[in-house]
Amino acid sequence: MAIVSAEKFVQAARDNGYAVGGFNTNNLEWTQAILRAAEAKQAPILIQTSMGAAKYMGGYKLCKALIENLVESMGITVPVAIHLDHGHYEDAKECIEVGYTSLMFDGSHLPIEENLKLTKEIVELAHAKGISVEAEVGTIGGEEDGIVGKGELAPVEDAKAMVETGIDFLAAGIGNIHGPYPANWDGLDLDHLKKLTDAVPGFPIVLHGGSGIPDDQIQAAIKLGVAKVNVNTESQIAFSNATREFARNYDANEAEYDGKKLFDPRKFLAPGIKAVQGAVEERIDVFGSANKA
Ligand code: 13P
Repeated sequence: MAIVSAEKFVQAARDNGYAVGGFNTNNLEWTQAILRAAEAKQAPILIQTSMGAAKYMGGYKLCKALIENLVESMGITVPVAIHLDHGHYEDAKECIEVGYTSLMFDGSHLPIEENLKLTKEIVELAHAKGISVEAEVGTIGGEEDGIVGKGELAPVEDAKAMVETGIDFLAAGIGNIHGPYPANWDGLDLDHLKKLTDAVPGFPIVLHGGSGIPDDQIQAAIKLGVAKVNVNTESQIAFSNATREFARNYDANEAEYDGKKLFDPRKFLAPGIKAVQGAVEERIDVFGSANKA
């Protein structure tokens, strides 16, 4: 069975100077695309659902079953963790119940003492079932699932205290933003990242907002201790661009396309799947996790 918790392969990435991808999924087609990419590249991965994506797809139970069944039916051999992205406390508990193998409890919007306390509780519950845990200090700019972060740099003392809760990997704000980066973005604060990793030597750091960060900055962050990079927006753009392009062609060539039965949604969505697979494969190459399964 290729489905595993993530702490071992994330730590292996940290120890050996590469990063694994935490790729968000939003539907059946993306899940297939991400799994195909991981298998083609022989890369360990986390497939993650935000709370909103899980709701859209029909709930955590369905997401877990979908990923699990696809891993089996597609003959996936690389390690795959089923991960909750930016979970609230109750959602984290639900994912523990349902059988996700990894989760992020995001208490970054709470006062640090509260964040630490709740993270500790989640770590206890999750580790009792062998589930890996990510937590966050500082905030990541932009908006995701209604959680709006101003993008505060993670205080070093908070990072140290959070690692002491027993978590397996730590998301830390270093100037990163969810969604597209504005033209006047300052770039990642690599000096601050170095201060953080010096304070928690050897501990895996998670970089959120991976879409649109220039490759050289991602690779510099990996050198300093980033071992998991989250990617969502790039897949969204790849999927919607490919399916929009297909729809434009369809409209222009309707009679011919109808003759080929290209109104079948399976055919309509195929270019989107291929585009997401390509985008994920490119990222795996940048992260250096190809052939690390
Ligand atoms: P992007 O959408 O910017 O790639 O960020 C994804 C992410 O960090 C999910 O937690």
